[in-house]
Amino acid sequence: MQKTALITGITGQDGSYLAELLLAQGYRVVGMTRRTSTDVHERIQHLVEDIEIVSGDLLDQTSMTKVVQTVRPDEVYNLAAQSFVPTSWDQPVLTGEFTALGATRVLEAVRAVDPAIRFYQASSSEMFGKVTEVPQRETTSFYPRSPYGVAKVYGHWITVNYRESYDMYACSGILFNHESPRRGKEFVTRKITDGVARIKLGLAKELRLGNLDAKRDWGFAGDYVRAMWLMLQQGHPDDYVIATGRTHKVSDFVRIAFEAAGLGSYEPYVVVDPRFVRPAEVDLLIGDPSKAKRELGWEPEVSFEDLVAMMVAADIDRVAAAHR
Ligand code: NAP
Ligand code: GDD
Repeated sequence: MQKTALITGITGQDGSYLAELLLAQGYRVVGMTRRTSTDVHERIQHLVEDIEIVSGDLLDQTSMTKVVQTVRPDEVYNLAAQSFVPTSWDQPVLTGEFTALGATRVLEAVRAVDPAIRFYQASSSEMFGKVTEVPQRETTSFYPRSPYGVAKVYGHWITVNYRESYDMYACSGILFNHESPRRGKEFVTRKITDGVARIKLGLAKELRLGNLDAKRDWGFAGDYVRAMWLMLQQGHPDDYVIATGRTHKVSDFVRIAFEAAGLGSYEPYVVVDPRFVRPAEVDLLIGDPSKAKRELGWEPEVSFEDLVAMMVAADIDRVAAAHR
């Protein structure tokens, strides 16, 4: 029997990779999008013939319940969120509505329609924030450092609570930073590779960044969506840290990206701009993915160095094509 998956946030980076993975597994894939005045869904443009799109919004319980009722999925992946950390200081209430209460609305829709539907919540390493343990694992306590991180802690615990209260198959994937050529350009990795491409092609002279000393455990988004799917295929629901187990400074990413483009040292090009420094920083993230390896058989396939090279090459190609 063909399975049906409903993805909220299908137009985002992860939604596009997850849709590709599920289509390859033979799923009927339904993506939920919110109404906009333009129809720009560039990350899923290549999939429009193969997926179904339904309209709904995390802010609206009626639409969420109607979507789940109409689609009747076997699995729901709740990827939709206000996902950019700096915006969460500018729009803390809206971030809470999307990223925290949004998860409750999806869970409520599932519970009302059919509590047997399997549910995935996109939790985040931002929940560890000012870390209390190195490396961070499933049992590490949370200390979020932004309204986004606080909202994700709520989304995490409401998922655990619905699992325990209603015996639902609800899982939370605590995913560390994952990137790709489809990453939004506001996030640091893509901002760097896009900036490197513009400098390489003579379209820009400098790249303005914030804190170069922050450390992140960066992986490839295509590897991480496989972990989401694996979590919903087990005998029982649980929560998993998904990470590479390696950490790098932002300055390491910058250095390797400039080298990959053949530009040499980054120092003449990079300007530290206080506008990009955050009110409270997450200084160090490094995850311990051993539970995911042991129980899901999951391991990342793309290395940090290959990820940087992949993103630089894709941006040089894209920027060059746009200016041809
Ligand atoms: P992303 O590219 O920012 O995509 C976010 C998605 O959420 C977009 O499809 C967006 O739709 C949708 N969305 C936002 N508000 C919505 C609303 N009110 N109703 C319906 N849809 C809404 O994020 P991502 O990188 O793919 O991440 C996917 C999820 O994983 C997010 O929840 C993120 O917080 C979480 N996460 C990401 C990482 C990472 O490193 N990427 C790590 C840990 C956790 P529009 O296209 O209409 O804006
Ligand atoms: N965005 C951005 N822009 N970040 C910068 C810049 C800059 O110019 N300069 C330095 N940084 C630093 C930030 O201060 C942060 O320490 C690090 O680069 C990573 O920033 P982002 O790429 O914006 O990601 P994030 O770690 O805040 O959040 C991402 O990962 C989370 C998982 O840990 C997002 O995808 C979240 O949605 C996700 O939950």
